[in-house]
Amino acid sequence: MTTTGIWHPFTQMKSFEPLGAVVEAKGAWLTLSDGRRILDGISSWWVTNHGHSHPKIAKAISDQAHQFDQVILADFGHGPAAQLAERLADILPGELQHVFYSDDGSTSVEVAIKMTVQARANQNEGHRKRIVTFDGAYHGDTVGAMSVSARGVFNEAFQHLLFDVDSLPYNDIPALQSFFAEHGAEVNAVIVEPLIQGAGGMRFSTPDFIAELDRLCEQHGAYWIADEVMTGLGRAGTMFAVQQANAVPDVICVSKGITGGTLPLGLTICNPEIYARFLGADKSQAFLHGHSYTGNPIACAAALASLELFQEEQTLDRVAQITSRYEHIASQFAALPNTKNIRYRGGIFAYEVDGGGGGYLDPTGRKIRDKVFEQGLYIRPLGNTVYLMPPFCISTEDLDWALGLMLEATRDL
Ligand SMILES: Cc1ncc(COP(=O)(O)O)c(C=O)c1O
Repeated sequence: MTTTGIWHPFTQMKSFEPLGAVVEAKGAWLTLSDGRRILDGISSWWVTNHGHSHPKIAKAISDQAHQFDQVILADFGHGPAAQLAERLADILPGELQHVFYSDDGSTSVEVAIKMTVQARANQNEGHRKRIVTFDGAYHGDTVGAMSVSARGVFNEAFQHLLFDVDSLPYNDIPALQSFFAEHGAEVNAVIVEPLIQGAGGMRFSTPDFIAELDRLCEQHGAYWIADEVMTGLGRAGTMFAVQQANAVPDVICVSKGITGGTLPLGLTICNPEIYARFLGADKSQAFLHGHSYTGNPIACAAALASLELFQEEQTLDRVAQITSRYEHIASQFAALPNTKNIRYRGGIFAYEVDGGGGGYLDPTGRKIRDKVFEQGLYIRPLGNTVYLMPPFCISTEDLDWALGLMLEATRDL
């Protein structure tokens, strides 16, 4: 198959050969043009939760597309965006209820950063300048999102364009406490991937870490932004990861799984305190930000259908079943001499494999990917971090098969 014309994401095009061309995707499986069936072991970059081409979401998309498609959200409202905002306010913790729509995970983060910065500016709190982030963080590829992400291979070339942040060690409560003791009054906002850092290597934090962050921010008047682009919508085992810490952020970023993985949509949802800071007599205090496709009705309709499916299909119970299969097999991975840090949470199973120098450019994970792909499983390790994150509709049989393939490929490395 030729790839002429497509510049693939995160790909060195010089040596690139695509794995195949997808002609159909149903449930947890992809079908390629040569007839091969491939299990989608990473939910197509962490977006697919109920399975590919779910009939309920497909129907919602089709119905909405026939009713009306994109309409400008600056001057008009519409049902799908209003209902989705209402529905999210119901299921989100605390008073998170003001929904700003954008297009993807990165834009939801850009919006969150700009929102907290302008919220301070609007109230003459310009002294609160510090933006705090964590080592290993990944929040996206736009310039603001790169600025709050860990510096390294993803953003090396852009260092001079990125704004300064305070980067603290992830999952380190004493470091957090001592930072706040010294600088708490200068902090504008902290941004964190709660419970699991995704692209940084599936690094886990304890719920206590998130709870302490919540407490410190409250105590020092700092905002905190939960980036749940990956962890949200069941991926960490609960609807939102912050719920496991009984923590309520001031702003939450949601994307990826919100439409069930069917259409791009980003949401930045804040509490009334932040929202109120933008209210004023004229436009100067308003949030002068927006995107052409803001609040896309078709994507909102897909999201509403996807949220209904969480109820109808008891999706979180399915996630719990997936976690229990991980629990069942973890000791077999731990027994291998070349693996470490076997861990699982919600729909994610991850471990590190020895072989290269570690980190994103370590080629070891790629060898495992190639081996399991030959047998029909698609995974995409992050350097030497190998992980499985299938759609929640995966059958127990398919899940056990996938884990078995990964175990065998890792053992035979
Ligand atoms: C936690 C987190 N935030 C933001 C993003 C960026 O999302 P997108 O790729 O949709 O721009 C990602 C993508 O993986 C992510 O994992």
